[in-house]
Amino acid sequence: MTAARYSLPAMILHWVQAALVIWLLWRGWTMIDLPKGAERTAAYALHKSLGLVALALVVIRLGWRRMNRPPAISVGGWEAALASLTHRALYVFLLVAPLAGYFASSFSTYPLKFFGIEVPKVGWPDESINALFKWTHIVFTWGGAALVFLHVVGAFKHGLGRDGVLQRMLPARLFRN
Ligand code: HEM
Ligand code: HEM
Repeated sequence: MTAARYSLPAMILHWVQAALVIWLLWRGWTMIDLPKGAERTAAYALHKSLGLVALALVVIRLGWRRMNRPPAISVGGWEAALASLTHRALYVFLLVAPLAGYFASSFSTYPLKFFGIEVPKVGWPDESINALFKWTHIVFTWGGAALVFLHVVGAFKHGLGRDGVLQRMLPARLFRN
């Protein structure tokens, strides 16, 4: 239907971040039940490192988006309003969730490292501030998971309908309209 596609960098950023965020949701959810020990420590360290990568990616992505406007939404009516609202809410989640994780880690006694390199903390050990940011992290990650679900269901609905919406996020060579 429509040939307008996202730019290749926007597509790459979208798919890398999609895979990363789904992994972070799964790892966050499963790591909290691990018993204290080496496996838990390693899981937390990897979650924090890759969570910081996700934060960097969304900053790059928003910067790219500012300089390279995406193609106008191709559907109309209520679907356009819902897609635009979901996209905005996804960006809020992609920014606030890792920031809250970073702040929670800043106010904890545990080390904060990026693949072994010490990351400066903006806080000091404080249990109640740590709990507040942990709570924010949980609310935004699970709110974000609900949005991702809505977004993926929408994308697949359009994919099955072959109306060109899913193809906008796929390279032309891979998927022709
Ligand atoms: C988009 C990025 C991120 C996603 C989707 C994500 C997702 C999650 C999820 C689903 C949980 C489990 C929440 C629960 O039900 O208790 C979790 C826990 C946690 N995350 Fe993240 N996270 C992200 C980024 C970060 C970052 C950047 C940090 C720190 C630098 C971080 C630190 C933590 C910590 C410390 C916990 C454990 C909280 C606890 O022990 O209760 N996360 N994360
Ligand atoms: C199988 C999983 C996914 C599929 C099939 C998918 C598909 C798509 C498609 C087709 C678009 C373009 C929609 C349009 O042109 O109106 C899009 C946009 C978007 N997706 Fe996904 N997506 C998936 C997962 C994710 C995940 C996990 C996230 C969050 C981390 C995400 C975040 C976004 C955002 C923020 C946009 C808006 C891009 C912009 O206009 O700046 N997507 N997605």
